Amino acid sequence: MTRLSTKHLLGIRNITQDDIELIFATADNFKQVINRPIKKVPSLRDITIANLFFENSTRTKLSFELAEKRLSADVINFSASGSSVKKGETLIDTVNNILAMKVDMVVMRHANPGAALFLSKHVQAKIINAGDGAHEHPTQALLDAFSIREKLGEVRGKKIAIIGDILHSRVALSNIHCLKKLGAEVMVCGPRTLMPKYMGGLDVKVEHDLNKALKWCDVANMLRIQLERQEIKYFPSLREYTMQYGLDKKRLDSIGKKIVIMHPGPINRGVEITSDVADSDQSIILDQVENGVAVRMAVLYLLAGRTEN
Ligand code: CP
Repeated sequence: MTRLSTKHLLGIRNITQDDIELIFATADNFKQVINRPIKKVPSLRDITIANLFFENSTRTKLSFELAEKRLSADVINFSASGSSVKKGETLIDTVNNILAMKVDMVVMRHANPGAALFLSKHVQAKIINAGDGAHEHPTQALLDAFSIREKLGEVRGKKIAIIGDILHSRVALSNIHCLKKLGAEVMVCGPRTLMPKYMGGLDVKVEHDLNKALKWCDVANMLRIQLERQEIKYFPSLREYTMQYGLDKKRLDSIGKKIVIMHPGPINRGVEITSDVADSDQSIILDQVENGVAVRMAVLYLLAGRTEN
């Protein structure tokens, strides 16, 4: 297969296993490119990409921008803070004004689930979802699975535990879809109050005991507690959360085997993970960041190559 089945990347739920494998094969090539002395290729010359960030980001924003520049695209960046959104301009008006400047592709992060889908129905440009509320974060899931494949040789048959605040996590949902499509076994682990009821319908194991999850898995993907999305209290205190669900070196060493540690970032050091684990030789957290550039180059390149609807 040489083309994606989709014009936009709105989520992992609506792409195929073949799409994911094509993205990985393309990212393998781009990973070689970004490790060469000359890191730039002319693939997206004459393509203009707008990065629209209506919500805060460090990794995703910088990674997309670097990926676009490595592909020789023209790039414009928009952040909601300091923009006319603060004067009441709507999403569609904002985007249509940007598209009037002849933009071909839009990378968008937005706090509302479905914002990228909404945009794809109202504008001509190709849309890449860079995170929509607690819904999906497809390029994070792709770079996570790509990093597991790189570290363990393949994803199929591997046991992946996603641990922490599952309820508010777009990373969890996109990872579940991606890992299941690639043949992994997936477990989610966290407090009952942070476990969405729909997990039962996603064919994943649900566990509330961190020690059991760690003993079961080959890879532990530790998620941040998303206090900014929590309007009510889901647990008594951060200290209590850390006692039950925080991963420290003592707990990690007690399971009697070496598992791979991941985290999508940003890390709350000392809450869901301690520094001695995050910075240990079992952690691939910075590999995830490096792979993010290659995976996003692949997504941009493959979507730009799709000319038909
Ligand atoms: N992993 C991730 O999405 O990080 P940012 O919020 O910094 O982009």
